[in-house]
Amino acid sequence: MSEASATPPMTSTSPSGQRAVKAVIPAAGLATRFLPATKAVPKELLPVVDRPVLQYIVEEAAAAGIGDVLLITGRGKTSMVDHFDRQPYLESRLEEKGDAERLAAVRRPSELAEIYTCRQAEPLGLGHAVSYAESHVGDAPFAVLLGDEFVDLSEPLLPAMIELQARTGGIVLAFLEVAPEETKRYGIASVAPAEDALTDLGEVVKVTGLVEKPAPEEAPSNLAVLGRYVLPGRIFEAIKRTGPGSGGEIQLTDAMALMLAEGTPVHAIVYRGTRYDTGMPLGYLQAVVQIAAKRDDLGPEFRRWLAEFVAADAGAQGT
Ligand code: G1P
Repeated sequence: MSEASATPPMTSTSPSGQRAVKAVIPAAGLATRFLPATKAVPKELLPVVDRPVLQYIVEEAAAAGIGDVLLITGRGKTSMVDHFDRQPYLESRLEEKGDAERLAAVRRPSELAEIYTCRQAEPLGLGHAVSYAESHVGDAPFAVLLGDEFVDLSEPLLPAMIELQARTGGIVLAFLEVAPEETKRYGIASVAPAEDALTDLGEVVKVTGLVEKPAPEEAPSNLAVLGRYVLPGRIFEAIKRTGPGSGGEIQLTDAMALMLAEGTPVHAIVYRGTRYDTGMPLGYLQAVVQIAAKRDDLGPEFRRWLAEFVAADAGAQGT
């Protein structure tokens, strides 16, 4: 390796100014919370109104200027890739019928970004899944978007995270505030105020500690890691030095905690917009209802029906 391209040492805090232009979506999980629906259909393809969850996620990446998406898939999940491919037969049928609206909807997924895939042979944890991206992203910063959550496009999160990462050169996370009993579902952080020069990007905090899925009595705060990360390429080397953690899995949180301990700056934006969590049946139902209610085409009629349903249900409960 020439001197000019040498990887900076792990403790480097020098910002490169380079912006993340690639995203990695780990989507190899077994989705046991959704069985039996996910026995043959990947949870990432469950529909939210008329688009699969994964399309909302790729749309979020595309809206943040990311044109290159690597999907980490697993056995039985290749249909996810088909969704982002062209469908010439279906397209020509719709063209013949003059159904321009559906034709555009069918083509849209293939126009959002260049989609690349790779298979995680065994689901050994989020850190392990992310490590598959090394040869695709190299040593450049990149975004990670978890495959079962997304934010409302009208309240974007990723653009500010990407800008923050370009300024610090470190790790950038996003947090949501959770109820104390929920800490065991998330990575939880301890934080300090951020440097003044970064606070124009939102509610930015400096991260001083990270722990994966602590019990409420051990949680350092109620700030939970949301499924969006912007990471420097040095994370791959840290993952290689990370042993099994919570649940016996190679955790991304543990690799980030290692880099933090070794001097890499870690910051986060506290997100107060709308986040949809489709990884569990209740959150999935809430996402479907919220998005349907917001749609211009379906919204007015759906809201009317929903209001009547809720009123009738409240009446029935009261009797
Ligand atoms: C993963 C991460 C966790 C993070 C969460 C966000 O957990 O390991 O740190 O808070 O995503 O959804 P998982 O939901 O895969 O168990």
